[in-house]
Amino acid sequence: MRILLKISLIIFCCATVSSCMRRTRRKDVGNFTFSFAAYYGDNMVLQKAPQAATVWGYGEEVGSDVVVTRSDHEAVITTVTEQNTWSVKLPPIKETNSTYTITAKSQNKSITLKNVLFGDIWICSGQSNMVFTLDMANNAQAEMQEAKNYSHIRVFTASQETSDTPLTDLKGVAEPWSIPSQDTVGHKPWTYFSAVCWLYGKLLYQNRGYPIGLITSAWGGTAIELWSSANALAKCGIKEGKQENLTLTHSSLWNAMMAPFTRLTIYGVVWYQGEANAGSPDTYNCTFPEMIADWRKQFTTNSDGQTNSLFPFGFVQVKPTTDNWIKVMYTSSIQQLEPVMFAILI
Ligand SMILES: *[C@@H]1O[C@H](CO)[C@@H](O)[C@H](O)[C@H]1NC(C)=O
Ligand SMILES: *[C@@H]1O[C@H](CO)[C@@H](O)[C@H](O)[C@H]1NC(C)=O
Ligand SMILES: *[C@@H]1O[C@H](CO)[C@@H](O)[C@H](O)[C@H]1NC(C)=O
Ligand SMILES: *[C@@H]1O[C@H](CO)[C@@H](O)[C@H](O)[C@H]1NC(C)=O
Ligand SMILES: *[C@@H]1O[C@H](CO)[C@@H](O)[C@H](O)[C@H]1NC(C)=O
Ligand SMILES: *[C@@H]1O[C@H](CO)[C@@H](O)[C@H](O)[C@H]1NC(C)=O
Repeated sequence: MRILLKISLIIFCCATVSSCMRRTRRKDVGNFTFSFAAYYGDNMVLQKAPQAATVWGYGEEVGSDVVVTRSDHEAVITTVTEQNTWSVKLPPIKETNSTYTITAKSQNKSITLKNVLFGDIWICSGQSNMVFTLDMANNAQAEMQEAKNYSHIRVFTASQETSDTPLTDLKGVAEPWSIPSQDTVGHKPWTYFSAVCWLYGKLLYQNRGYPIGLITSAWGGTAIELWSSANALAKCGIKEGKQENLTLTHSSLWNAMMAPFTRLTIYGVVWYQGEANAGSPDTYNCTFPEMIADWRKQFTTNSDGQTNSLFPFGFVQVKPTTDNWIKVMYTSSIQQLEPVMFAILI
C-alpha cells in the first residue's frame, strides 16, 4: 500500500538538532511513588479492540494490591512486583467517541487518567525529517488553526535522551498527551509537534473516523544504528560503536526512546530516516529490515502479546537525488517484511 503524504516537505540534510524540548516530568531510578509510567497521562489515547490496552506503573510496597477501574467497567486487580512495578490489561473496548476515566488505587493513594479515548496508537520515529515541526511546514498557519477541529487526535512527544542499557520507562517527556491546538501542535520550531506525524494522523482520522494517538520519538541527524538494539545490529555483524560526528553510541536511542514504549499496546509505526546512512546503503539493506523485525518482536513480547507481531510499519523513501538514497530506502529485503507501507517523495 502506498500512502502519498499530502505534503511537500523540504528535504534537508543531516542537521543535528539539539534538544530544546521542555522537560515536564522525570521518573528517577529508585522513586517508586505510586504512579503511572511516564507516558500515561490525562487526554491520552489507549489502543482499542481487538487488542487489550496495557496500563502499568510503580508501587511502593512489593506484593501489595493495585485495583484499576475504567469508568465503564468493573475493577481489574494486580499486585506490585519485585521490580516495584504493576501492570494490567484493560478489557478490549471498541472505538467510541466517549471519553473514559481510569483510576488506579493502592492502599494509600488513588491516581487517575482523565479524558482518555480508545483508538489506534501510532509511533513516529526517525531523524530530522520526522522532528521537523508543523509550524515549519507548508501551509503552517492554516494547519495550526485547523488543529483544534481534531479533538479526537491526541499528541505526545518524548524527550531526546540516551541510555547505555534498555530502559523500561522514558527519562523525560517533552510534550505530555495533549489535545490539538495552535500551541500543542505548533509550539516552536524543532520542538513539537512533528509535521509528518500530525499530517499522517490527520489523514488516518479522516479515513477511519475514530480516535488516533500520535507519539513522536525522533532525533535529528541520527543513524539507524542508534535506533537498533544490540541484537538487531549483531544480526548484521555490527558491534559496539559510535555514530560519526555525533557523540551518540549505537543502540542508545533504542534504549532510551523506543524500548520504554514496548510495554504499551500500539497499532503501528511510521519511520522517516535514511540520510544519516546514505553513505552505506549496503549496510542499510540489512540494518533496516533487522530493526523492523526486532521492534515487532520486542513490542509484541513486552506488551504480553497485545501489540500485533506484524504491526504495520510505514516509511518514507527519501527522494533519490543521489544513487545512494534510493538504494538506502527501498530494498528487496524490506518487501519480505509485509505489511510495510511506503511513500516516495517526488
Ligand atoms: C517521585 O515521583 C512522583 C510521581 O512521578 C513525583 O510526584 C515525586 O515528586 C517524585 N519524588 C521524588 C523525590 O523525586
Ligand atoms: C465519532 O465521531 C465521528 C466524527 O463526528 C463520526 O464520524 C463517527 O461515526 C463517530 N463514531 C462513533 C462510533 O460514534
Ligand atoms: C501506605 O503508607 C504506609 C505509611 O506511609 C506505608 O508504610 C505503606 O507501605 C503504604 N502502603 C502501600 C501499599 O504503599
Ligand atoms: C473548524 O471548526 C469550525 C467550527 O468549530 C468550523 O467553522 C471550521 O470551518 C472548521 N475548519 C475546518 C478547516 O474544518
Ligand atoms: C562528518 O563531518 C565532516 C566534517 O564536517 C564531514 O566531512 C563528514 O561528511 C561528516 N560525516 C558524516 C557521516 O556526516
Ligand atoms: C545488501 O546489498 C549487498 C550489495 O548489493 C548485497 O551483497 C547483499 O546481499 C544485500 N543484503 C541483503 C540482506 O539484501
